Amino acid sequence: MNTTVVIFGASGDLTARKLVPGLYNLKRKGRLPAGTHVVGFARRPYTSEDFRALMRTGVEQFAGGPIDEAIWKEFAQSLSYFRGNLDAPADYASLDAYLKGIEGGAGNRLYYLSTSPEYYAPASQALGAAGLSKSSDGGWRRIIIEKPFGHDLESALALNDAVHSAWNESQVYRIDHYLGKETAQNVLFFRFANTMFEPVWNRNYIDNIQITVAETVDVGHRAGYYEQSGVLRDMFQNHLLQLLTLVTMEPPSSFSADAVRNEKLKVLNAIRAINPADVVLGQYAGYRDAEGIAPGSKTPTYGAIKLYVDNWRWHGVPIYIRCGKALAEKTSEINIQFQPPPHTMFMGANAITPNTIRLFIQPNEGISVTFSSKVPDTTQQARAVDMRFNFADVARGEKLPEAYERLQLDAMLGDASLFIRSDEIVRQWELIDPLIKLDREPTIYARETWGPPEADGLVGGSSDTWLQR
Ligand code: BG6
Repeated sequence: MNTTVVIFGASGDLTARKLVPGLYNLKRKGRLPAGTHVVGFARRPYTSEDFRALMRTGVEQFAGGPIDEAIWKEFAQSLSYFRGNLDAPADYASLDAYLKGIEGGAGNRLYYLSTSPEYYAPASQALGAAGLSKSSDGGWRRIIIEKPFGHDLESALALNDAVHSAWNESQVYRIDHYLGKETAQNVLFFRFANTMFEPVWNRNYIDNIQITVAETVDVGHRAGYYEQSGVLRDMFQNHLLQLLTLVTMEPPSSFSADAVRNEKLKVLNAIRAINPADVVLGQYAGYRDAEGIAPGSKTPTYGAIKLYVDNWRWHGVPIYIRCGKALAEKTSEINIQFQPPPHTMFMGANAITPNTIRLFIQPNEGISVTFSSKVPDTTQQARAVDMRFNFADVARGEKLPEAYERLQLDAMLGDASLFIRSDEIVRQWELIDPLIKLDREPTIYARETWGPPEADGLVGGSSDTWLQR
């Protein structure tokens, strides 16, 4: 059966930068299901020819390699544009007729809401009202919803209700593109496809966990969006909490969507309400000078949080998560800091460094294990050394795929394990919403630093500091 991917908001940045390059790469690798069509839906008066030309530029720039003309030609034939207005009920009906024309019989449909967020509720309901969320021909109907899913707890609950009035939860695929990253998925492989790490992955051996997502870029041309969002909504409510679930969840019994998401929900539910004293918020110097930013804006561009997971495995283990823009380095990494050995018999001048496992999500994707080793030609001195695995070394020339490539394919295959379920999204808001409501004045920090110095004070335990600074 043919499949049609309908991208709403097709004239937006994401379509040309990520979605269509991702679909093109699936085609190039022979993974795009046969008979897949891609329809861009937006208000602009493009023809299908215009749309193809725009998408070609996107593919040239963002698909990660020179365009393969033969593949592009075939792919472009399945690409078309439908001009429509999300506010006009009649346009959904004519879209349906247009899609039926393409399908020429029974067909599967994946609708991708990549519009501005205020359309998520009305568009998903309008699709339902026009009969586009159900099929009578045995084809499936699914909907992908981009982030942000709501801007606080209340609006996320309302959005879930609106979506559920037209769609079953099993049809809904909420995106968190961090889950589409190979190295984020590899956290589960590292933990659950090996024997040697999981037995020590708990409070008996781990002193603390640190998750850092640091960006060097500032808010750039997205000031309008960012000013309303800030780092807590933009990154903590979704990406940071999802990384945290991967590190702390219990092993699911299978890699199926519900088994995985049940375990994630359990661990999200076990996170203790975050103490406002354990939250540091910052704003990079000069943020308020950008166009579109209020002169006295309190929007945080940096956050650092200490939290606890109140369950048997993690009782008493502090977990530090931090994220910010205009920082000293671009890195997303998870650091597992082990306890020091219970007794040290080596009396060398330098102290024994506790073991660490570092999972590098990006860039320089890899994993390192740090352990103590004897300093040659001394009697009792030890120093920390590193065993390092780089993804690039085993990739055999293949590039790590973009997150959106994997996620679009999974949605077409009906695998929702890397998408956020309605109950997860609600719980994530329950945790972060109270921090947003603190409405605290952020500390101004200098660009190209590691953020406000108070964040150093959050970290205690044997490490005494962020491992990465
Ligand atoms: C997005 C945020 O979800 O993630 C951006 O809106 C952020 O502000 C981006 O820059 C980071 O994603 P990545 O994949 O570049 O780490």
